[in-house]
Amino acid sequence: MSSTHGKVRNQNSSSRSLALLGGISADVFLRDYWQKKPLLIRNAIHDFVAPLSKKEVLTLARRDDAESRLITRDTNMWRIEHGPFSARDFRPPKTILWTVLVQDVQHFSHEAHELLENFNFIPQARIDDLMVSYAVAGAGVGPHFDSYDVFLLQGSGRRRWQISSQKDLRLKADLPLKVLSHFKPTEEFILNTGDMLYLPPSVAHNGIAETECLTWSVGFRAPSTQELSMAFLDYLRDSLQLPGQYADRDLKSTRHPAKIDIAMQRRFVNLLDGVRNVSRSKAAIRQFTGCYLTEPKTHVVFETPEMPLSSDAFGKLAMRHGLELDLKTRVLYDDEHVFINGEAKTAIGGVRAILRELADRRSLTASGIAKFESGPTLAFLYQCYCDGVLAIGRH
Ligand code: SIN
Ligand code: CO
Repeated sequence: MSSTHGKVRNQNSSSRSLALLGGISADVFLRDYWQKKPLLIRNAIHDFVAPLSKKEVLTLARRDDAESRLITRDTNMWRIEHGPFSARDFRPPKTILWTVLVQDVQHFSHEAHELLENFNFIPQARIDDLMVSYAVAGAGVGPHFDSYDVFLLQGSGRRRWQISSQKDLRLKADLPLKVLSHFKPTEEFILNTGDMLYLPPSVAHNGIAETECLTWSVGFRAPSTQELSMAFLDYLRDSLQLPGQYADRDLKSTRHPAKIDIAMQRRFVNLLDGVRNVSRSKAAIRQFTGCYLTEPKTHVVFETPEMPLSSDAFGKLAMRHGLELDLKTRVLYDDEHVFINGEAKTAIGGVRAILRELADRRSLTASGIAKFESGPTLAFLYQCYCDGVLAIGRH
């Protein structure tokens, strides 16, 4: 299997055996391992060329638009700091073991985005991010568990992974990061460049750098009920428009002026009925789902073109070079809507068809655009270009 910057070619079919999954098909992987048990895949990406070098990762951790953390350990003293960092932060004393982690690397590198695309057999809606860590020999972030599915792909160097099926997930108190109090590894593997370990949520694990190393983590979100419900309540707060107002034309005089009486409680129940109805509405939940799943993280900023093309020039260039989504853009769709970066669009006809294609493939060829060409479609795409959602193709 050939590879370029970690992109494995020709692997769309869900029933064909995939080198990425150690020779099993996506269907078998999903049936037997996904969310069920760990899988170690030797040589998942043969001749793996990492999207970024150590130097590029450390440079990324110095940017203020990237989310990065520096975890240091001095015997039993753990510290966590948040970026952006300066070069000096990466020269701690020799006795200190340190790891730098950068989230959402796919926002900064086309090659990193291509690496993510190897996992397209899983719906994009589940993808959280591609994270990279650089660790000096001996370093790690301690035994812990994550609440998402993760593929840990070894870049340069070697890492020892210890995993455990333990149910005891209690954490050490008073530490700035999540470290298990009683980690009892049941299996252990040394991963070399191109090897990959899949872990379902809540599997205890501990990665120790055998040599200085880069590890790429493809994380898939699995939100907790609490997290999802809080997000839904935020969504309702922003979108609810309910009619009516408190009224008590039947008010009776009282001898207990501080008392909230039954009549008043009933009026509140009736007023709040609207919230209950909306929160049960399938249409509202469908719309929330797409908005939630495409909502950019708080630190993400979309850059709009400094000198935007005119709409005519945009149309001509799009017809010649195609279009591609900005690396930070998330587009998903359901039967009714297309969701772009947290907003629901009710696109119809050609606009809908083109957006669906763009969402699935993240780019459109010139001929793909010509197929759908129409005034409203180009106008819609031009607006997306002005908003920094997409750009003229690079090729
Ligand atoms: C790391 O890359 O150091 C940590 C990844 C993880 O354990 O999830
Ligand atoms: Co982890």
